[in-house]
Amino acid sequence: MSFTLSEVQVADAESLIRRCDFPAIQDDPLHRIMFPRSRPDNWESEIRWMANNLKNTLERGRSNFRKVCAEDGTPVGFAGWALEQSDTPQGVKAQSNEKKDGSTIPDPDTLDMNAWLETSKMLREEKRRILHGRKNIWRLMIISVDPAYQRQGVGSMLMQWGCEEADRNERDAFVLASPAAVRLYTKFGFEVVGKVETTEGTFRSMFRKVQKQA
Ligand SMILES: CC(C)(COP(=O)(O)OP(=O)(O)OC[C@H]1O[C@@H](n2cnc3c(N)ncnc32)[C@H](O)[C@@H]1OP(=O)(O)O)[C@@H](O)C(=O)NCCC(=O)NCCS
Repeated sequence: MSFTLSEVQVADAESLIRRCDFPAIQDDPLHRIMFPRSRPDNWESEIRWMANNLKNTLERGRSNFRKVCAEDGTPVGFAGWALEQSDTPQGVKAQSNEKKDGSTIPDPDTLDMNAWLETSKMLREEKRRILHGRKNIWRLMIISVDPAYQRQGVGSMLMQWGCEEADRNERDAFVLASPAAVRLYTKFGFEVVGKVETTEGTFRSMFRKVQKQA
């Protein structure tokens, strides 16, 4: 199977969530904390809410997102990076509940807002602890691969692009890693520098020093 890497468009938001992110993150600690009562009959509202949040994020700036598509053009994975210029709080939320476009998509009934905010605060504090005083940090916000296409190098293609960008622009990189992704990040030169324990699993903060280009 050959895959291609390309820029993400705002119109991709729905299919990226529906095909890649939503199925990929079912066992992710943050997702389980956010949606502890998730059931198949609620999935549609969760998908639409997440797609709307991604759409809002892409509308604010999609240049740091890349997707990987299969030969028939179907998206099978995507990743998004953000440039952190200072340690001012910007949140760790790839999924923000801001609705800048006045959208009326309601929060899903299954969203545990308090648990989400509490965990986000812990993750934000960890990020601030590691990034305090550092500038020009290339932060991986989100990476997801459709489970049917995992372990075929798609995640690596997305990481390769992000790390080459980091090195080309002389930026250190940071990610708050969910358990499923630690090995992949390690392979690309990230090192564990801290952790955040939650009821659903451990996040590891991982840092990658810029690698000088030959
Ligand atoms: C983490 C994630 C993005 C990895 O994506 P992926 O496409 O499976 O990544 P890759 O295929 O490049 O690498 C994963 C493994 O497959 C192996 N692999 C890569 N190409 C392969 C191939 N052609 N055949 C067999 N194995 C292969 C890699 O060596 C790697 O193995 P290892 O981690 O056991 O050492 C994916 O598992 C995912 O979406 N997880 C859920 C969401 C998530 O946790 N995101 C991170 C948030 S911080």
